[in-house]
Amino acid sequence: MQHLREPLETRTALITGGARRIGAEIARGLHKAGINVVIHYRSSIDEAIALQQELNTARNESAHLLQADLLVLDTLQGLCEKAHGVWGRLDILINNASAFYPTPVADATESDWNEIVGINLKVPFFLAQCATPYLREVRGTIINIVDIHAERPLKDYVLYSTAKAGLIMLTKALAKELAPDVRVNGISPGAFLWPDSMSKAAKQQILSRTLLKRKGQPSELVGAVLFLIRDADYMTGQVITIDGGQMLAP
Ligand SMILES: NC(=O)c1ccc[n+]([C@@H]2O[C@H](COP(=O)([O-])OP(=O)(O)OC[C@H]3O[C@@H](n4cnc5c(N)ncnc54)[C@H](OP(=O)(O)O)[C@@H]3O)[C@@H](O)[C@H]2O)c1
Repeated sequence: MQHLREPLETRTALITGGARRIGAEIARGLHKAGINVVIHYRSSIDEAIALQQELNTARNESAHLLQADLLVLDTLQGLCEKAHGVWGRLDILINNASAFYPTPVADATESDWNEIVGINLKVPFFLAQCATPYLREVRGTIINIVDIHAERPLKDYVLYSTAKAGLIMLTKALAKELAPDVRVNGISPGAFLWPDSMSKAAKQQILSRTLLKRKGQPSELVGAVLFLIRDADYMTGQVITIDGGQMLAP
């Protein structure tokens, strides 16, 4: 059994969907704190290679890439084995990969269900399953990236909101199942990075609903991830909301 307060420099993290946007910021933040990172990507190969080069330039052989479509469940066991094999240990699993697009009730298809519920809920469970033996070896941790819309559904995003609600329960249920060896927590962001397709009016409406009257900086989300890894040894089964007060809006 490893010591609870082992230095971050000895630890390794697998971040799903880590090539761009929030996943890349988490990879950068963990790396800056001394953690070696396995960056998973699906199609963003150029961004993944650029990020790996950036991080390996800062610290030699500290970032590794793994490609997979996570919805092909057969690949998950191999992904976990490879992530563990890079440095011979796996301390942290960050379930960040996501699909986010509107699915109005009248139009949603089974294919939408399979993609959105698949990547936001099914994949985090099966990745947790295959990572658990490695995480147990080092008293590791799982962090699920949820969304405030797990608790307050986003209009027209019924499948996404439902999948993320399931991810909150998965966080709690896994915390119970994997204790005391593996801690499982979540982070529930409000507005951090806009989806490409969102209108200016929709953005303004969201911002006006935050108490702090702005969107979050990715570094503020990364700070919470690092807190869960580094400072929260007595915390499991919890979800931290970081939303500038959006959940308190009337
Ligand atoms: N953006 C926000 O402000 C916000 C707010 C609340 C919650 N969140 C949550 O925070 C997390 C990150 O948000 P984001 O906006 O950065 O996410 P995103 O851009 O929507 O997606 C992140 C990555 O997920 C990967 N992905 C999607 N489907 C996949 C599949 N089938 N197999 C493997 N990888 C797949 C993609 O990788 P490739 O590009 O390599 O294909 C994508 O770059 C998500 O869990 C999201 O729900 C974000």
